[in-house]
Amino acid sequence: MHASASPRQLDLAAIQALAAADMAAVDALIRRRLASDVVLVNQIGEHIVAAGGKRLRPMLLLLAARSLGHGGPDAHQLAAVIEFIHTATLLHDDVVDESDLRRGRKTANALWGNAPSVLVGDFLYSRSFQLMVELDRIEVMRILADTTNSIAEGEVLQLLHVRNPDTDETAYLRVIERKTAVLFAAATRLGALLAGADTATQQRLHDYGINLGYAFQIADDVLDYSADESALGKHLGDDLAEGKATLPLIHAMAHSDAATRARLREIVENGDVEALPDVIAAIQAQGSLDYSRTRAHQYAQAAQRALDGLADNEALAALRGLAHYATARDH
Ligand code: IPE
Ligand code: IPE
Ligand code: MG
Ligand code: MG
Repeated sequence: MHASASPRQLDLAAIQALAAADMAAVDALIRRRLASDVVLVNQIGEHIVAAGGKRLRPMLLLLAARSLGHGGPDAHQLAAVIEFIHTATLLHDDVVDESDLRRGRKTANALWGNAPSVLVGDFLYSRSFQLMVELDRIEVMRILADTTNSIAEGEVLQLLHVRNPDTDETAYLRVIERKTAVLFAAATRLGALLAGADTATQQRLHDYGINLGYAFQIADDVLDYSADESALGKHLGDDLAEGKATLPLIHAMAHSDAATRARLREIVENGDVEALPDVIAAIQAQGSLDYSRTRAHQYAQAAQRALDGLADNEALAALRGLAHYATARDH
C-alpha cells in the first residue's frame, strides 16, 4: 500500500454496472410498493416513477452498505424508502416552485394540479414509513424521522428567503443542508448502520453523504443557469422565476458594481425570469458559475476525505466515483 497514491475511483459506467443487480431489485420493489387501489395515486405515482431519475440516493445507500460488506433485502428495502421520500419531496417541490418540467416530462402539478400532487406526495411519504416500519429497527426510524423533519424545515426556510435579495451564502448553505444534504447523509449512514458498522464508521459515511449532498445541490443550482435543457429535463431559470437566490446569483450580487447589484436585487425581489439574460450576464462577468463549481468541488473533496482510512474495495471506489460525478454531471 502506498499512502500517497490517490485512492481508486470508478467511472459512472463501472458504478452502474456494479450496482445494477441491486438497483434492479430496488426498482422492482419500488414498482410493487407504489401500488394503491386509488386510481389517481397510481397514475401520478407511475408518472413520476416511470420517468426514471438518476436513483442516486438509493445507489448511495446500497454502495455504502456494500463497501462495509453488507448486502441483502434490508438494504433493498431501505433504498426504496429513501427513493420514495425523495420522490415525495419532488412532487411537493414542483408545487412550491411552480415548475412544469421534471425528468423530461410535464410535472404532476402541471398535468393534474397542485392538490393531487401534494396529496400523492403525502401518499409516497407515508408509504415510505410503512416500508421503513417493516424493518422494525428503532435506530433506522430515528434517523429517518429526523431526516424528513429536517427536509421539511429546509423547504420552509427556503420559502422564507424567497424574493429576499439579502440572502447570503451562509443562509443558502443552511437551506441546502436541510433540504438536500441530510437525505444523502441518511442514505449513506443507514448503509453503514445496516452493515453493523461501529459509530465512528457510521459517522464517516454520514460525513461523506452530507458533503456530497452540498456538492450535489450546488451543482444543481449551477445547472439551473447553465445546463442544456433537454439533457437536464428541467427548465433553466426555474430558481430565478421563483425569486430563489442560489449560490451563483448570491455571488454575483455580492461582487457586482453598485448599479448592477441594485438591478439584480430588484430582479430577485420580483422573481423576474424575463431578466434571465441580464442575470446570466452578471453571473458571467463575476465568474460566479466558476466560483460555485469550485465550492461544489470543495464539498466533494470533503466527501472524499471522509472515506479516507476505510478499507478499499469496489464499492468504496464507486462511492469515490460518485463524489466526482456529483459535480461533473450534466443533469
Ligand atoms: C433533484 O434531485 C432535487 C435536488 C436535490 C437537486 P435529483 O437530481 O437527484 O433528481 P432525480 O431523481 O435524478 O430526478
Ligand atoms: C430540491 O431543490 C430540493 C428538494 C426536492 C427537497 P430544487 O428546487 O433546486 O430542485 P429541482 O431543481 O426543482 O430539482
Ligand atoms: Mg425545484
Ligand atoms: Mg434546482
